[in-house]
Amino acid sequence: MPVITADPRLAAALRTDLDAAGYTATAVREGWGPVADAAVGRGLHGPALAAIADRDDAAAVHARLLFLGVPQPAAAVEAAFPACGVDGLIGLGLARRDGDRVVPTALVRPQDAGGAGADGAGAGVGAHWWIASDLDEAALAGPLPTDHVLGVGGASLTLAGLQLATPVDRVLDVGSGCGIQSLRALLSADRVVATDVSHRALAFTRLNALLAGTDAVEVRHGSLFEPVAGEQFDRVVSNPPFVITPRVQGVPEYEYRDAGYAGDDLVAAFVTGVGAVLAPGGTAQLLANWEYREGEDGLDRVRAWVAASPEPLDAWVVEREHLDPLSYAELWVRDGGTTPGSPEYARLIDAWLDDFAARRVTGIGFGYVLLRRPVDAAPALARYERVSQPVTGALGVHLGAALAAADRLAALSDDALSAAVLQVAPDVTEARHHRPGDEAPTVIELHQGAGFARVIAVDPGLAALVGACDGDLPVGVLISAIADLLEVDAAALASDLLPRVRELLFTGFLGFAR
Ligand SMILES: C[S@@+](CC[C@H](N)C(=O)[O-])C[C@H]1O[C@@H](n2cnc3c(N)ncnc32)[C@H](O)[C@@H]1O
Repeated sequence: MPVITADPRLAAALRTDLDAAGYTATAVREGWGPVADAAVGRGLHGPALAAIADRDDAAAVHARLLFLGVPQPAAAVEAAFPACGVDGLIGLGLARRDGDRVVPTALVRPQDAGGAGADGAGAGVGAHWWIASDLDEAALAGPLPTDHVLGVGGASLTLAGLQLATPVDRVLDVGSGCGIQSLRALLSADRVVATDVSHRALAFTRLNALLAGTDAVEVRHGSLFEPVAGEQFDRVVSNPPFVITPRVQGVPEYEYRDAGYAGDDLVAAFVTGVGAVLAPGGTAQLLANWEYREGEDGLDRVRAWVAASPEPLDAWVVEREHLDPLSYAELWVRDGGTTPGSPEYARLIDAWLDDFAARRVTGIGFGYVLLRRPVDAAPALARYERVSQPVTGALGVHLGAALAAADRLAALSDDALSAAVLQVAPDVTEARHHRPGDEAPTVIELHQGAGFARVIAVDPGLAALVGACDGDLPVGVLISAIADLLEVDAAALASDLLPRVRELLFTGFLGFAR
């Protein structure tokens, strides 16, 4: 593949052409329709090509050439890219000439930015981006090379949505790949340092920053924190190459998902090492896998990595999925493009299972890790939990609110909490389940519409308290009134309810009215 050249003049010309053609994610999706779009998501390009076959406008040429990776007649490309031209695309490393055709050598796909940060920041990097990355399996019509630079995938979007939205100065994006996390970070940060071991990935990051019209992304080559040793950042984000891979001959090492460590050692190194590059008050957010080994809970392994950090850290770790070794092996052998049922597939699965067996691995967790270096106090947050229900929408604002609640609660005695005025969050609903004919419910549940969409069972006392939190009376007054109603001791009810009120404030069922 030709080298990607992040030439500012050519990138500006390409940006002009993409913009003028209206090459946005919405336009592309609407252009070929929902069925073809779903097919594209599964690596099948036929329906999309058929849906736009009779179009020769610039956006359709862009979509065929740069979204689907299909060669186009040179004259059509010249007309669709009047500023950049075929020579410009070749100069950037995105295409090559083959007779009177232009053959794409990389993809450039439009991507919704998912809205600006909660504070409305980020207008500088646009409401949508164009993300250049290597040709995917469908465009290559075969398996990916091991030095492939990934485009925006499901994990990329998950982490982009998790990124905190509070404004900061400087962010570090470790393993930037195509640079999607760096661009997302710029919605609430002034500057980003993007690092990767792949020079090609860094070239894509640089090019994509130019296509987003920003020069606030600085790229640096090197492994993990080496390129930024001695520096500190307000935020670190990383979708690191965490995939657990057997270290034996004949198992491909895909740079985009695997950094060459054994087992989950890469995640351990990241969690234990990131504190050194965090400024006081700084946060780190990453996606990760962790192993469960015979007699050892996976979340306890993460806890030990956090404890081993020379800089004490707050930690909030959310396990979202748990796979048995066979399912994990199948997932990643398929991801590498090996056909299920083939002898090669069986050989690779065996290699994965042998590797897991050697460490007595019984399962693999996947989830979100949020770490924070306290400003001056000792760490106050150590939360390791499993949350498996689906969530809708970006979680960044929710995570930020939870951290703010944790800080406020850490400084709040039970007396002060009793004096606080609370409000039930607008997305919370209550469900009461009765046995047929019974007047009193057997189960009362609170349902969260946003955030982690948690559902919790509550007793009548807590249900009454949450129901009464309307921003008017202090918690202590409400608890006394509920104690009267239930004919129980008010002090006993308070010591039963207040810890659970703290939990509801952290998880976002309740908020401080002021
Ligand atoms: C899963 S991709 C993430 C790409 C992008 N940040 C995203 O969210 O889509 C992981 C990236 O880490 C890079 N990488 C691999 N080993 C690394 C290492 N030791 N240090 C830093 N980056 C590494 C790969 O080249 C790849 O670009």
